[in-house]
Amino acid sequence: MATEGINQGRRRFLTASTAVIGGAGVIVTAIPFVKSWLPSARAESAGAPVTVPLGKIEKGQMVRYAWRGLPVFVVNRTPEQLEWLPKQDPRLRDPMSKESDQPRYCQNEHRSIKPEWMVLIGICTHLGCVPDYKGEVRPEPFDPDWKGGFYCPCHHSRYDIAARVYQGVPAPLNMTVPPYHFIDDTHIQIGVDPKGAA
Ligand code: FES
Repeated sequence: MATEGINQGRRRFLTASTAVIGGAGVIVTAIPFVKSWLPSARAESAGAPVTVPLGKIEKGQMVRYAWRGLPVFVVNRTPEQLEWLPKQDPRLRDPMSKESDQPRYCQNEHRSIKPEWMVLIGICTHLGCVPDYKGEVRPEPFDPDWKGGFYCPCHHSRYDIAARVYQGVPAPLNMTVPPYHFIDDTHIQIGVDPKGAA
């Protein structure tokens, strides 16, 4: 269980936890900032689509899944995080995501199907580390003007809350958005495009 960094007085951004989704159900050992929920090893090795229930992901929370052996981050973005998105454009390397890898239906300012739900492959485009989720809009040691996003501790690359890379860091591209679609209002499936949008 990881509790470091939890500030009870602030909005409840959630840190790391240990949780596993498998054939037997869900085991949750903590409810902190970032949850790690993994599909069954068999499904993962087969590269099967992964279904993510959204109902228990709180505003500002990130949940981590595995799909095809890759870490996939699912973030329930807050209105405050969304409000800052367009204001970051002048600081970004590729604000319109022209160079980066995402499905066509996610090539927009929020890089997602629905603005509040961000889905991304959590791998830094520099040398492949897994960035940290730094969701809170507050000054950080690596950026006094931080508006929420992802920070790669390996060589200090920074991404905004739409996984768009900032200028002046080693990472060359925005992080990748995988194919996914909404099964209904409270479930997405990672690995399958929306009908007719391939
Ligand atoms: S691997 Fe992320 S900054 Fe180098």
